[in-house]
Amino acid sequence: MIKAAVLGFGVVGSGVVDLIYQNAELIEKRVGEKIEIKYILDLRDFPESPYRNKLTKDFNVILNDPEIKIVCECMGGSHPAYEFSSSLLSAGKSVVTSNKETVAKFGDELLALARENGVFYLFEASVGGGMPVIRPLSKCLAANEVFEVCGILNGTTNYILTMMNKYSESFETSLASAQEKGYAERDPSDDINGIDTCRKICILADMVTGVYCSPESVAAQGIVGIRPEEVKAVEEWHGNIKLLGRCRREGDKYSVLVAPFVVAENRMIAGVDGVFNAVSFKCDAADEITVSGRGAGKMPTASAMVSDVMDAASGSAYRADWAKKNDGLYVSIDEVRDVFFLSFVKCSCDLLNNVKCEFSNVKVIGENENEIFVMSDEMTTREVKEHIASLEKLGIKSNGYMRVLQ
Ligand code: HSE
Repeated sequence: MIKAAVLGFGVVGSGVVDLIYQNAELIEKRVGEKIEIKYILDLRDFPESPYRNKLTKDFNVILNDPEIKIVCECMGGSHPAYEFSSSLLSAGKSVVTSNKETVAKFGDELLALARENGVFYLFEASVGGGMPVIRPLSKCLAANEVFEVCGILNGTTNYILTMMNKYSESFETSLASAQEKGYAERDPSDDINGIDTCRKICILADMVTGVYCSPESVAAQGIVGIRPEEVKAVEEWHGNIKLLGRCRREGDKYSVLVAPFVVAENRMIAGVDGVFNAVSFKCDAADEITVSGRGAGKMPTASAMVSDVMDAASGSAYRADWAKKNDGLYVSIDEVRDVFFLSFVKCSCDLLNNVKCEFSNVKVIGENENEIFVMSDEMTTREVKEHIASLEKLGIKSNGYMRVLQ
């Protein structure tokens, strides 16, 4: 029998415990040994829980118990999750986590510690909830050079955008519903401001490049500033707006960014709605691979964690590896090339001619009483900003821009 512990008895932690007992028989058959949860760490009391006899408030009980071989960290936040994970790995226990903040900040260090101690630090649940993404990248695509990873990595924002677009719900109602379903972060501003997506795309960038990508260095934009007029214009153009994280090779460097993208409705990702996430890998041998699944929620996230527990138990787990090197591998967002969707406020001047003249070439894709919407040719972010600044000198106001998924 393999004894395990769970840190944090919230949405994800309780899902892990439920799944381990719900599917105990098939888990035992597949691993070759029974997995037993000996402890659950939480500062709260759960007098009604059938697992109340496993609850402890003392982390040291778990750390110092030689019987505990695997610990599921479902605490959220970096501290004390990082300190607890370091101590556990140093004590020769494998750690399985759903904590993207800790993996994105301290993954390099914790992975090195796991290697030194002959145990595993596994994080399938940290990106994409129940959607397999870490294992496909590190195992199935291991023979490939990966040029681009791009996708919907936050269930809460995709759920909000879907509720707003398809069911005309307000932003506030949609967010409250995502919170109620257990999708949102403790601080939902991490979801809606793109910070959660940023942590996840940084983890994928770390894996693709082998070099640490700091979430603080990534330009991350959320969904708060998206206007109903933009949503309508994109819909009329037969597209959807999706919050995407993207890591892309740029010559011998890489760009990493988080932003709302305009996605044409014939792209597979445009139809990924609700809490579902989807990520596409562009690779040299396998070409393009897209995976999709529930990106948040109790049992989907538990599914990813328990699969890691099973791999740790059977010793067949993936070993990711990246290092902190300051070698200028990641380029500034200003140098990143894309096609852009822009809007300009109508004015008494010859708006369209001025915009066409400044951008060399734009396609008008829609208009309303107050503004016109256009698509640019491919250009750098710096060039877009410069064109907008030049037009502003002529008294032409831009209402902002979004990237277009190519
Ligand atoms: N808040 C996250 C999301 C949870 O909505 O995707 C899963 O990481």
